[in-house]
Amino acid sequence: MALAGDPAIGAALAGLGGCAACHTADGGPPWAGGHAVETPRGTFYGSNLTPDPEHGLGAWGFDDFRRAMREGRAPDGHAYWPAFPYTSFTNLTDEDLGHLWAFLQTLEPVARPDQPHEGIPPRWQLQVFRWRAFHEGPEPLDRGAYLGTAVGHCRECHSPRTWIGRIRTRHELEGGHAPFTVAPAIDPEALAGWSADDLDTLFTLGMSPDGDFPGGGMSRIVDEGTAKLSDADRAALIAWLKGG
Ligand code: HEC
Ligand code: HEC
Repeated sequence: MALAGDPAIGAALAGLGGCAACHTADGGPPWAGGHAVETPRGTFYGSNLTPDPEHGLGAWGFDDFRRAMREGRAPDGHAYWPAFPYTSFTNLTDEDLGHLWAFLQTLEPVARPDQPHEGIPPRWQLQVFRWRAFHEGPEPLDRGAYLGTAVGHCRECHSPRTWIGRIRTRHELEGGHAPFTVAPAIDPEALAGWSADDLDTLFTLGMSPDGDFPGGGMSRIVDEGTAKLSDADRAALIAWLKGG
């Protein structure tokens, strides 16, 4: 496929997708990997996504990247753990994958080796998971749902989970609770008092109608994601939130 990716569009998609948060160690060089994703099934470390030829993606072509995001498979064919949310990213279009890839090429290469995952289940459990819970995309979605679910992962923080950590799909966006991320409900009912303009102000300036500046992981999603979207894309995301 001819690559005509725009790194600026890729940067906004990456911001909405929260890639940097999982792919940067606390206090470590940006995008060079090492953030611990703690789950009840082990601790997974985001990998080095910089163009370093040995430790990052420097030796990859676009097709390797597309396969990782769409199929959840490495260039050598092994499957990735779903701590890498390819279960959502599988729905990204080739065009947007091209923008993301163009953006990743602009990063500074960092020679930081990947950290091995800890306490993980045997690999056959991954095969069972993929067989039961992974549906390879891209599934056609309207633009707002696409931004909120294929790229964004609003539901990851804003939904209640079962004790093993699986999202309660029938209660998506109804609020996250401890011991997982604590985040308010943002389903249409919870947002009934917010106008589209209120949401647009939150998603551009980070300010809510009562003058609060939401913190938690949200300020980063705003600064690096929603605030960098085109006006049309932000309006589509808001329409999706309001309409359920
Ligand atoms: C919730 C945390 C999380 C988020 C968000 C996330 N990743 Fe990852 N990613 C991971 C983990 C963990 C792995 C390692 C998976 C494995 O080893 O099986 C990974 C692996 C990858 C790989 C494979 C790298 C390699 O060397 O094989 C790519 C490519 C990737 N992620 C790209 C992205 C992009 C692009 C985004 C944003 C659109 C993103 N990731 C968002 C956690 C995350
Ligand atoms: C990393 C976790 C995380 C992700 C991902 C995330 N949020 Fe949030 N969000 C939060 C937290 C935590 C708060 C509350 C912050 C506070 O009160 O200081 C919040 C607040 C909000 C609020 C304000 C709600 C209120 O009642 O004040 C809205 C609206 C919102 N998020 C929408 C979204 C949308 C849309 C997405 C996806 C594009 C998203 N969030 C992704 C964690 C997250």
